[in-house]
Amino acid sequence: MIEKELTSEDLIAMEDKYGAHNYHPLPVVLSKGEGVYVWDVEGKKYFDFLSAYSAINQGHCHPKIIKALTDQAQELTLTSRAFYNDVLGKYEKYITEYFNYDKVLPINSGVEAVETAIKVCRKWAYEKKGLEPNTATIIFATGNFHGRTLGVISASTDPVATNNFGPYLPGIEVIPYNDLTALEEALKKPNVAGFLVEPIQGEAGVFVPDEGYLIAAARLCKENNALFVADEVQTGIARTGRLLATCGNCTCEGHCEKRPDVKPDILILGKALSGGVFPVSAILADDEVMNCIKPGEHGSTFGGNPLACAVAIASLEVVKDELLQVNAQKLGVIFRSRMNKIVEKSDLVNLVRGKGLLNAILINDDEDSDTAWNICVALAENGLLAKPTHGNIIRFAPPLVMTEEQINECCDIIEKTLLTFEK
Ligand SMILES: Cc1ncc(COP(=O)(O)O)c(C=O)c1O
Repeated sequence: MIEKELTSEDLIAMEDKYGAHNYHPLPVVLSKGEGVYVWDVEGKKYFDFLSAYSAINQGHCHPKIIKALTDQAQELTLTSRAFYNDVLGKYEKYITEYFNYDKVLPINSGVEAVETAIKVCRKWAYEKKGLEPNTATIIFATGNFHGRTLGVISASTDPVATNNFGPYLPGIEVIPYNDLTALEEALKKPNVAGFLVEPIQGEAGVFVPDEGYLIAAARLCKENNALFVADEVQTGIARTGRLLATCGNCTCEGHCEKRPDVKPDILILGKALSGGVFPVSAILADDEVMNCIKPGEHGSTFGGNPLACAVAIASLEVVKDELLQVNAQKLGVIFRSRMNKIVEKSDLVNLVRGKGLLNAILINDDEDSDTAWNICVALAENGLLAKPTHGNIIRFAPPLVMTEEQINECCDIIEKTLLTFEK
């Protein structure tokens, strides 16, 4: 009861005092979410233009997902994988058919799924490609973001992620992103297990690679007997206007099961797999790769728990039923066209880039300036929540259930706010 009376200021002070300072949030304290909106403890309403880094693609508290959660929560939540449960098999059938793979390995957070992919990729390299023990390397791209575990930060090129956390995981080669020549060279080395890459680099500032990069990268991997591993934790599940960003230029308007452009050997999913309800992630692969993992070699107490399985089925059904990738594609075009109009007449905004509803604007200032932060604070005051990825880049990623009218309203707020920062 007492907590109900606490103000935003009190709650921020509490987090500051009792919580580790491993984040630097905007000074907004949220207590409710519904669809594209969130409310703070004082009752102020905002458009959520971050969607918990693309986890809330289906909108806050989607009724179908919450129903699946609460129904299942009253039956069975966790068995561990010591026993079978009556939802896991149904989920495995559903998700593998949905994304056209033979098998899924269910896990919890995004970074755990990336770690899982690294392990499976290495296992495949020793057991199928025939590499000598402990010699495998995995190629990563500069500017990558795959999460925060030690294994994964070992591939990071961001000093904030790596400084004073060494020693790092060996067996990693980092090449420039969006550089096929560098990839071709790196793949010539004999001990390469795979290339692990984001189809669009979200955290780095929504870097979209050149047209054809992913198709060519996947082909080069195949020619060199290495696995093409796609981290679609942020880009997947309709965010970029396709079911997956690796679907590339597929013109399929509906739910796409054909995967015409690139089919990664290992696909990594997380975030929106649960509609943002709680951590659910997975890797998908065909038998040739996934059967390298045997009992006891990998797992997690919570991975594949019945609650997660029920929530993930509902979350994927919502994407299919509501054709969220089609909406993301349509609204993304509107958003970028509105932002481009600002770019044309503004000295403050240099560029808008992105695909579907994963976009960013580039502010005309230094990477370590606080301009983007100050703009986000002003956006919040005007009723829209977004967060910088760098001092001069703001990512815009609203829930995919937004309407055309709402996105135009949001563009009005962004335009009005940016105008106040023009010199
Ligand atoms: C591409 C990518 N991979 C992995 C992760 C890690 O996911 P999690 O924070 O759930 O561990 C993220 C998180 O932002 C991501 O964007």
